[in-house]
Amino acid sequence: METKVWAHRGASGYAPENTLEAFELAMRMGAYGIELDVHRTKDGKLVVIHDETVNRTSNATGYIKDYTCQELKKLDFSNSMSEFKNTRIPTLREVFGLIRASSIMLNIEIKCDRVIYYGIWDELVKLSREFGMDDRIIYSSFNHYVLRELKKIKPQAPTGLLYSCAILDPWVYAEYAEATAIHPHFMIPLNTPGLVEQCHENGIAINAWTANEPEHIAGLVQLGVDGIITNYPDVAIKLLDK
Ligand code: G3P
Ligand code: MG
Repeated sequence: METKVWAHRGASGYAPENTLEAFELAMRMGAYGIELDVHRTKDGKLVVIHDETVNRTSNATGYIKDYTCQELKKLDFSNSMSEFKNTRIPTLREVFGLIRASSIMLNIEIKCDRVIYYGIWDELVKLSREFGMDDRIIYSSFNHYVLRELKKIKPQAPTGLLYSCAILDPWVYAEYAEATAIHPHFMIPLNTPGLVEQCHENGIAINAWTANEPEHIAGLVQLGVDGIITNYPDVAIKLLDK
């Protein structure tokens, strides 16, 4: 099966990460899917942003959990890209609206690393049902307990286990966790001979993040990973076409 290209936080090499602008660009570039990160506001809205705080990517400071959605919508998320001045933070609902008519896939990374958003799994499942997006989403998280909670309410939901150190026999763990895929840091498959084959022999997909150098992307394609998550989907697509 051909390796799929996932746009990391959208085409974030070219537009502010995790914004509608970056997602639109990813679609125009022909990415197979979009990877994005989800947090929850003070008033219970699901918003798309990487960090627990707005400090790095906006013109303000503070935790997402302490802002209402309306307050967040006033901030500038252009993240030092001057041509994108006044770019707004998207809600997940807005992203669903943007991509619904297309066929692009979505990798929703549930951010429950430092702040735990209890019940976010229920809200995600509800929203994806409302938009008829069930078949187009793979959920991932570094917090595997969260994926287990999600599986309790939606057992057939595809899940990817994010991790960043070279754990032993991750396909065994993936089977235990009832996950569809492992999502390792890209250096792990590159440095672990046989990992891709063993995952595939055991029915586990492998999607690697975040490979941006052509040399790394080419190496992952050669290994036959199922997906490459990259800030530069156009570069990966071009390499795959060769
Ligand atoms: O989902 C892949 C990748 O996004 C995981 O790391 O920190 O960029 O969310 P991070
Ligand atoms: Mg992410």
